[in-house]
Amino acid sequence: MKSVPTFCIGVLTLSDKGAQGLRVDESGKLIRAMVAGLGEVTHYEVIPDEAAEITRTLIEWSDVARLNLILTTGGTGLSPRDVTPQATLQVVDYEIPGMAEAMRMQSLFKTPHAMLSRAVVGVRQSTMIINLPGSPKAVRENLEVVLPALAHAMAKLAGDPSDCGV
Ligand code: MTE
Repeated sequence: MKSVPTFCIGVLTLSDKGAQGLRVDESGKLIRAMVAGLGEVTHYEVIPDEAAEITRTLIEWSDVARLNLILTTGGTGLSPRDVTPQATLQVVDYEIPGMAEAMRMQSLFKTPHAMLSRAVVGVRQSTMIINLPGSPKAVRENLEVVLPALAHAMAKLAGDPSDCGV
Protein backbone atom coordinates (compact mmCIF):
# COMPACT_ATOMS: atom_id res chain seq x y z
CA MET A 1 0.00 0.00 0.00
CA LYS A 2 1.26 3.48 -0.88
CA SER A 3 2.00 5.47 2.28
CA VAL A 4 0.42 8.90 2.65
CA PRO A 5 3.18 11.51 3.00
CA THR A 6 2.87 13.95 5.84
CA PHE A 7 4.21 17.40 5.19
CA CYS A 8 5.80 19.91 7.55
CA ILE A 9 4.08 23.25 7.40
CA GLY A 10 4.83 26.74 8.72
CA VAL A 11 2.28 29.49 9.32
CA LEU A 12 3.70 33.01 9.39
CA THR A 13 1.38 35.87 10.30
CA LEU A 14 2.52 39.36 9.37
CA SER A 15 0.82 41.92 11.54
CA ASP A 16 2.23 44.86 13.48
CA LYS A 17 -0.75 44.73 15.86
CA GLY A 18 -0.62 40.96 16.20
CA ALA A 19 3.09 41.05 16.99
CA GLN A 20 2.42 43.57 19.78
CA GLY A 21 -0.32 41.39 21.23
CA LEU A 22 -3.00 43.92 20.27
CA ARG A 23 -4.88 41.59 17.89
CA VAL A 24 -5.81 37.93 18.14
CA ASP A 25 -4.48 35.99 15.16
CA GLU A 26 -7.72 34.53 13.82
CA SER A 27 -6.24 34.13 10.32
CA GLY A 28 -3.34 32.02 11.52
CA LYS A 29 -5.76 29.85 13.46
CA LEU A 30 -7.93 29.41 10.37
CA ILE A 31 -4.96 28.43 8.21
CA ARG A 32 -3.94 25.80 10.76
CA ALA A 33 -7.44 24.32 10.65
CA MET A 34 -7.63 24.38 6.85
CA VAL A 35 -4.29 22.58 6.31
CA ALA A 36 -4.79 20.02 9.08
CA GLY A 37 -5.34 17.22 6.55
CA LEU A 38 -2.10 17.97 4.70
CA GLY A 39 0.45 17.60 7.43
CA GLU A 40 1.68 19.03 10.69
CA VAL A 41 2.08 22.72 11.47
CA THR A 42 5.51 22.56 13.08
CA HIS A 43 6.32 26.29 12.90
CA TYR A 44 4.12 29.25 13.76
CA GLU A 45 4.99 32.89 14.41
CA VAL A 46 3.37 36.31 14.44
CA ILE A 47 5.88 38.97 13.43
CA PRO A 48 5.64 42.66 12.42
CA ASP A 49 5.49 43.89 8.83
CA GLU A 50 9.26 44.27 8.57
CA ALA A 51 10.90 43.00 5.38
CA ALA A 52 14.14 41.96 7.10
CA GLU A 53 12.30 39.88 9.71
CA ILE A 54 10.12 38.30 7.07
CA THR A 55 13.03 37.28 4.82
CA ARG A 56 15.03 36.00 7.80
CA THR A 57 12.14 33.81 8.93
CA LEU A 58 11.38 32.51 5.43
CA ILE A 59 15.04 31.62 4.86
CA GLU A 60 15.36 29.86 8.24
CA TRP A 61 12.15 27.86 7.77
CA SER A 62 13.20 26.86 4.23
CA ASP A 63 16.93 26.23 4.58
CA VAL A 64 17.27 25.09 8.20
CA ALA A 65 13.87 23.64 9.15
CA ARG A 66 13.33 22.44 5.55
CA LEU A 67 9.56 22.84 5.72
CA ASN A 68 7.53 21.63 2.76
CA LEU A 69 5.16 24.57 2.86
CA ILE A 70 5.06 28.06 4.37
CA LEU A 71 1.79 29.98 4.36
CA THR A 72 2.01 33.67 5.14
CA THR A 73 -0.98 35.85 5.94
CA GLY A 74 -1.15 39.63 5.78
CA GLY A 75 0.78 42.48 4.25
CA THR A 76 -0.08 41.81 0.61
CA GLY A 77 -2.02 45.02 -0.05
CA LEU A 78 -1.17 48.63 -0.70
CA SER A 79 -0.61 50.13 2.74
CA PRO A 80 2.85 51.61 3.31
CA ARG A 81 3.65 48.78 5.78
CA ASP A 82 2.57 45.99 3.38
CA VAL A 83 5.86 44.36 2.34
CA THR A 84 5.17 40.62 2.32
CA PRO A 85 5.27 40.13 -1.49
CA GLN A 86 8.51 42.13 -1.85
CA ALA A 87 10.12 40.13 0.96
CA THR A 88 8.93 36.84 -0.54
CA LEU A 89 10.25 37.73 -3.99
CA GLN A 90 13.65 38.40 -2.42
CA VAL A 91 13.96 34.81 -1.18
CA VAL A 92 12.26 32.57 -3.76
CA ASP A 93 14.21 30.81 -6.51
CA TYR A 94 11.21 30.96 -8.83
CA GLU A 95 7.53 31.86 -8.80
CA ILE A 96 4.51 29.67 -9.49
CA PRO A 97 2.42 32.36 -11.17
CA GLY A 98 -0.56 30.13 -11.89
CA MET A 99 -1.28 29.61 -8.21
CA ALA A 100 -1.33 33.34 -7.44
CA GLU A 101 -3.34 33.99 -10.59
CA ALA A 102 -5.88 31.32 -9.65
CA MET A 103 -6.36 32.81 -6.18
CA ARG A 104 -6.89 36.30 -7.57
CA MET A 105 -9.16 35.10 -10.38
CA GLN A 106 -11.49 33.17 -8.08
CA SER A 107 -11.39 35.93 -5.48
CA LEU A 108 -12.61 38.47 -8.03
CA PHE A 109 -15.93 36.61 -8.04
CA LYS A 110 -16.17 37.47 -4.32
CA THR A 111 -14.91 41.09 -4.25
CA PRO A 112 -13.34 43.59 -6.67
CA HIS A 113 -10.85 44.35 -3.89
CA ALA A 114 -9.23 40.99 -4.68
CA MET A 115 -7.18 42.71 -7.36
CA LEU A 116 -5.47 44.75 -4.65
CA SER A 117 -3.70 41.72 -3.21
CA ARG A 118 -0.15 41.41 -4.60
CA ALA A 119 0.25 37.91 -3.13
CA VAL A 120 2.96 35.76 -4.71
CA VAL A 121 3.60 32.04 -4.65
CA GLY A 122 7.08 30.68 -5.13
CA VAL A 123 9.64 28.05 -4.24
CA ARG A 124 12.88 28.29 -2.28
CA GLN A 125 14.86 25.06 -2.61
CA SER A 126 12.09 22.51 -1.95
CA THR A 127 9.86 24.77 0.17
CA MET A 128 6.72 26.26 -1.32
CA ILE A 129 5.86 29.73 -0.03
CA ILE A 130 2.31 31.03 -0.44
CA ASN A 131 1.23 34.56 0.46
CA LEU A 132 -2.36 34.99 1.59
CA PRO A 133 -4.10 38.28 2.43
CA GLY A 134 -4.71 39.19 6.04
CA SER A 135 -8.40 38.88 6.89
CA PRO A 136 -9.88 35.49 7.85
CA LYS A 137 -12.45 35.87 5.06
CA ALA A 138 -9.74 36.49 2.47
CA VAL A 139 -7.63 33.64 3.87
CA ARG A 140 -10.49 31.20 3.50
CA GLU A 141 -11.45 32.36 0.01
CA ASN A 142 -7.86 32.27 -1.28
CA LEU A 143 -6.59 29.15 0.44
CA GLU A 144 -9.57 27.04 -0.64
CA VAL A 145 -8.58 27.74 -4.28
CA VAL A 146 -5.05 26.30 -4.06
CA LEU A 147 -5.66 23.69 -1.35
CA PRO A 148 -6.65 20.87 -3.76
CA ALA A 149 -3.29 21.16 -5.60
CA LEU A 150 -1.00 21.39 -2.57
CA ALA A 151 -0.37 17.72 -1.75
CA HIS A 152 0.60 16.99 -5.35
CA ALA A 153 2.77 20.10 -5.61
CA MET A 154 4.63 19.31 -2.38
CA ALA A 155 5.16 15.70 -3.37
CA LYS A 156 6.75 16.88 -6.61
CA LEU A 157 8.95 19.39 -4.80
CA ALA A 158 10.04 16.68 -2.37
CA GLY A 159 11.18 14.58 -5.33
CA ASP A 160 8.26 12.19 -5.85
CA PRO A 161 9.17 10.63 -9.19
CA SER A 162 5.66 9.35 -10.08
CA ASP A 163 3.91 10.57 -13.22
CA CYS A 164 1.39 13.38 -13.02
CA GLY A 165 -1.91 11.57 -13.63
CA VAL A 166 -4.41 14.21 -12.64
N1 MTE B 1 -9.53 38.18 -1.55
C1 MTE B 1 -10.65 37.57 -1.18
N2 MTE B 1 -10.92 36.37 -1.71
N3 MTE B 1 -11.52 38.09 -0.28
C2 MTE B 1 -11.26 39.29 0.30
O1 MTE B 1 -12.08 39.72 1.13
N4 MTE B 1 -9.73 41.21 0.45
C3 MTE B 1 -8.91 42.08 -0.42
C4 MTE B 1 -7.75 41.35 -1.09
N5 MTE B 1 -8.07 39.98 -1.39
C5 MTE B 1 -10.09 39.99 -0.07
C6 MTE B 1 -9.23 39.39 -1.02
C7 MTE B 1 -8.45 43.29 0.24
S1 MTE B 1 -9.67 44.29 0.86
C8 MTE B 1 -7.14 43.66 0.26
S2 MTE B 1 -6.69 45.21 0.79
C9 MTE B 1 -6.08 42.77 -0.23
O2 MTE B 1 -6.57 41.43 -0.34
C10 MTE B 1 -4.79 42.79 0.58
O3 MTE B 1 -5.03 42.35 1.90
P1 MTE B 1 -3.87 42.36 3.00
O4 MTE B 1 -3.22 43.71 2.95
O5 MTE B 1 -4.58 42.07 4.27
O6 MTE B 1 -2.87 41.30 2.66
